[in-house]
Amino acid sequence: MKNMQKVLIFTILFCIAAMVFIGCKKKDSGIITVGFAQCKADESDWRMANTRSMLNAFNVPGFRLILSDSNNDAAKQVADVQGFIDQEFDYIVIAAVNMDGWETVLKNAQKAKIPVILVDRSMNVSEDLYTCWVGPDFKVEGQKATAWMEKHFAGKQVNVVNLQGQLGAGAQVGRSAALAEAVAKNGWTLLAQQTGNWSTVEAKNIMTSWIQQFGDKINCVYAENDNMADGAIQALREAGKKVGGNDGVAIISFDANRPYLQMTLEGLINVNVECNPLHGPKVFEIVQMLQRGEQPQKRMLVDEEAFYFDTITQAIIDARQY
Ligand code: AHR
Repeated sequence: MKNMQKVLIFTILFCIAAMVFIGCKKKDSGIITVGFAQCKADESDWRMANTRSMLNAFNVPGFRLILSDSNNDAAKQVADVQGFIDQEFDYIVIAAVNMDGWETVLKNAQKAKIPVILVDRSMNVSEDLYTCWVGPDFKVEGQKATAWMEKHFAGKQVNVVNLQGQLGAGAQVGRSAALAEAVAKNGWTLLAQQTGNWSTVEAKNIMTSWIQQFGDKINCVYAENDNMADGAIQALREAGKKVGGNDGVAIISFDANRPYLQMTLEGLINVNVECNPLHGPKVFEIVQMLQRGEQPQKRMLVDEEAFYFDTITQAIIDARQY
């Protein structure tokens, strides 16, 4: 019996020592660890700018930002966040692939007392499950685009095709909702709608099939990001269609990355609605606030504008940060 007691006591002492060591190690390091669950770091020009902004903002002494790339796999992204919790990160930042599926893992973060900051995309969860959200109003972005369409097509029939972002992403949900409302309000015809998964190649293939199906009936493409707008433009030009300007197939795009603002200046894109990816500095400021025990606002919208083919200038483009 005595031996069993000795083994039990040793085991308990070993566990206590291990926990103290891990605790001290964490405290001794003094480094603030931030886990960033990104959708797919190279998914689009926008996403690359967003990733760069976050990495640069935390590339300072005293902080370590670890990026996990979910490859746009929603289930993997949830697992990545659970991994940050298991490793006892100090903060977790999430750009959600999908708006759903977050309840359990956010509750786990709450139990572990790890603040969660949402960037870019929002989630369908109670707002007490995260500290704050920094990002755009995607539906307002869409409404800026449809307001232009109403003016441009005033009195004419609109036959629009919609290249959607990855289904379930906040950006897709908001932008698609704005188009659906405008179609209903104005009696436009939504000829076709399909996700191009933010990708130029996928969008080009879809647009090619729509051109074969609808031909010259299409007079507007509502592409939910620059990369897909580019794919649609390539397909239209290869089919010999006039694109953009005052009398070509009107092209709507979102993100306003510099190369696509150049295409807006050239008249290939009629409207490019900005979706600001530069969240890094704001998130860094929020983490510093939390370190000081201060409470940030629950929702923080980023500033955004829209650019139009007939008013944008090279000077505007040259002054852009991304
Ligand atoms: O959430 C923002 C969207 O995600 C951008 O519009 C798109 O390019 C990105 O991939």
